[in-house]
Amino acid sequence: EAAEKGGYPHFMLKEINEQPAAITATVSPRVEDGMPVLRVPELTDEALRKIGRVHLVACGTAMHAGMVGKAAIEALARVPAEVDIASEFRYRDPILSPEDLVIIISQSGETSDTLAALKLAKSRGVPVLAIVNVVGSSIARAADYVMYTYAGPEIAVASTKAYMVQMCVLYLFALRLAYARGRLTEAETRRYTARLQDAAEIIKPRLADCEYIKYLASLFMNTQSCFFIGRGFDYSLSLEGSLKLKEISYVHSDAYAAGELKHGTISLVTDGVPVIALATQKSVYEKTLSNAKETKSRGAKVILFTTKDTVVPEGIADYIVRLDEYEDIFMPLQLIVPLQLFAYYMAVLRGCDVDKPRNLAKSVTVE
Ligand code: G6P
Repeated sequence: EAAEKGGYPHFMLKEINEQPAAITATVSPRVEDGMPVLRVPELTDEALRKIGRVHLVACGTAMHAGMVGKAAIEALARVPAEVDIASEFRYRDPILSPEDLVIIISQSGETSDTLAALKLAKSRGVPVLAIVNVVGSSIARAADYVMYTYAGPEIAVASTKAYMVQMCVLYLFALRLAYARGRLTEAETRRYTARLQDAAEIIKPRLADCEYIKYLASLFMNTQSCFFIGRGFDYSLSLEGSLKLKEISYVHSDAYAAGELKHGTISLVTDGVPVIALATQKSVYEKTLSNAKETKSRGAKVILFTTKDTVVPEGIADYIVRLDEYEDIFMPLQLIVPLQLFAYYMAVLRGCDVDKPRNLAKSVTVE
């Protein structure tokens, strides 16, 4: 097993560090002459133009990738998109039409609820595109079309590199959809695609920042609970950062849309509670900052994640994690890395079984 870990103490840390390679393996084969290509013969530009609504259905971390996909599809292509938890979708008699596209997202391709959701969509005559990591898995075989992620085998129960490349495939899909529907010009599509290809390089400094993240984890390793807040893409990342933390470190953690804080959660903010405020989105930066300030004035220790160029006024953050400039829509690719590392080091410092957390399975094949 030590050999399989390639010198890393845990599979999770190895897989976090494999993300640049996973991005390149997943994105490069789908860029042709600078343009995004889906390599699904049936999903021609003409077919993409006819899609009425997109439903993204998955469980766990894959569902969080779906949230990023929804936001990208709506922002770039202006096609309505919905995200569903597979176990909800399958039992709620979803409203589906043959012009819709269901996108099923799964690392293993074997999650029971996700497979059942896929079968339901097919039984209603709705085409299903699966984004799957495991070749020949049940979901890959049952779907009408497949776009594989090329993360390689993911061993740690907490998903990291698979999530990263699920987002990449969803971005590629959103870019092609936007181009096919005339929402992005060819020049704009090329520019975005080139920036997506840069992701592997963009995240390397975030991997290199691991000592600072480890230091932050050491400051908060004994906390009882933790809150993540953010807006838009940063809210989706709050959910994933919080899930990673609770899964492997057993710290109680909750994620909130920053603007929702005052509708309840703020009552839980007491002296010394860490609040991880994600503020990478320029359009809502000031708003999130003011929410962070509200928590700080109630005694929270605020760890602010923002970009290098932003000005953070005094009295808002106790610690700042700086990210490099990048397109707002692609910021999740960069932001997730320090959040994964924070969860990882919290779990290590608390003496948890990082790769095999209690009560959790890598693939949930029973209902
Ligand atoms: C389990 C795993 C998660 C994963 C989820 C969905 O809960 O522990 O890491 O996100 O299942 O799995 P899938 O293989 O369908 O992506």
